[in-house]
Amino acid sequence: MSSADPAATPSPATDGRPVGINEVAAHAGVSAATVSNVLNRPERVAEGTRRRVEGAIAELDYVRNSSGSNLRSGRSDSIGLVVHDVTNPFFTEVARGVQDAAADEGRAVVLLNSDEQAAWQSRSLRLLAEQRAAGAVVMPIDDDMADLLWLRKRDTPWVVLDRGDVGEDLGCSVTVDNHAGGLAAGRHLIGLGHDRVTFVSGPLGIEQCARRLDGLRAACEEGGLDPDRAVRVVEAAQLNPRSGEQAVEEILAGGPRRRPQAAFCANDQLALGVLKGLGERGLRVPGDLSVVGYDDVDVAGLVHPGLTTVAQPKYELGRAAMRLLHSELADADHRHQRLRFEPELVVRGSTAPATTHPTL
Ligand code: RIB
Repeated sequence: MSSADPAATPSPATDGRPVGINEVAAHAGVSAATVSNVLNRPERVAEGTRRRVEGAIAELDYVRNSSGSNLRSGRSDSIGLVVHDVTNPFFTEVARGVQDAAADEGRAVVLLNSDEQAAWQSRSLRLLAEQRAAGAVVMPIDDDMADLLWLRKRDTPWVVLDRGDVGEDLGCSVTVDNHAGGLAAGRHLIGLGHDRVTFVSGPLGIEQCARRLDGLRAACEEGGLDPDRAVRVVEAAQLNPRSGEQAVEEILAGGPRRRPQAAFCANDQLALGVLKGLGERGLRVPGDLSVVGYDDVDVAGLVHPGLTTVAQPKYELGRAAMRLLHSELADADHRHQRLRFEPELVVRGSTAPATTHPTL
């Protein structure tokens, strides 16, 4: 972008009008087709010619106008990305992966939040259809495919991310094995000798939360514990720190004799709120209670003690989803795929071996 003073004399080639591809071609001494190749298929242009054209683009401050091609195709080049809540750093990192992969293909990303609300999800997908988005990466709020089927009927391809293991006849999906994540967290805590664990969940209607709980219960069974006795569930209103802080009252209900030895939280945001709430009540982590989170967002490694958590490949999830969408947009022989990533336990200072606690 030229940093020239807007009041300066406009470039002689344009007298203030936007520079067109023909002016660039004339300036570089090549055809307009060659300029187009430099922009779209630079590998087909000899290096010397390419450099001359790139120099002309810079000198004339030429910016490609994609609206023309969009008018002809009836589609924009943009990609829609619908996440639950971009203020949660999990989604921010996923969005960065989508955006970087989209930029590799010369595409912009339109970011929308569903706030886990069906009405907002529907509205977001309708907005993308109205704006003729080329395609969408969607983190569905549940397994109801109606919105996504509606979008596909309007020839807008999509990839579902993080939830909604859709059939390969419908579209591509990228998910992480949430059961494996819960199992890893459970094995870690049971391995430390904990046999009273509170699972601090978001709304259990959220598939990821339910699957993580299943994994924790499976770890109890594997460790010879009765999951109905070893695991207690506290369902927070939302997957955010405030809800985690509010959940502490219920986690500690019943007094020291009924206090859990550990809290496994459905995501790091809840865990951060739980850490705050425990600290405000004078309880030490991990001395009085071990805490495990899920996601491994940056702040998990910055708090003290560091948060033991289950890492999800957030950035890679976003890139992989965008690459699958690009394949559907660009490859005539595209076949839908279901990619599944594995989570990984990251042990930090918020968990420690069980100490003797008052028995139940
Ligand atoms: O932190 C946001 C959570 O919502 C993540 O664990 C992600 O998997 C989604 O379930």
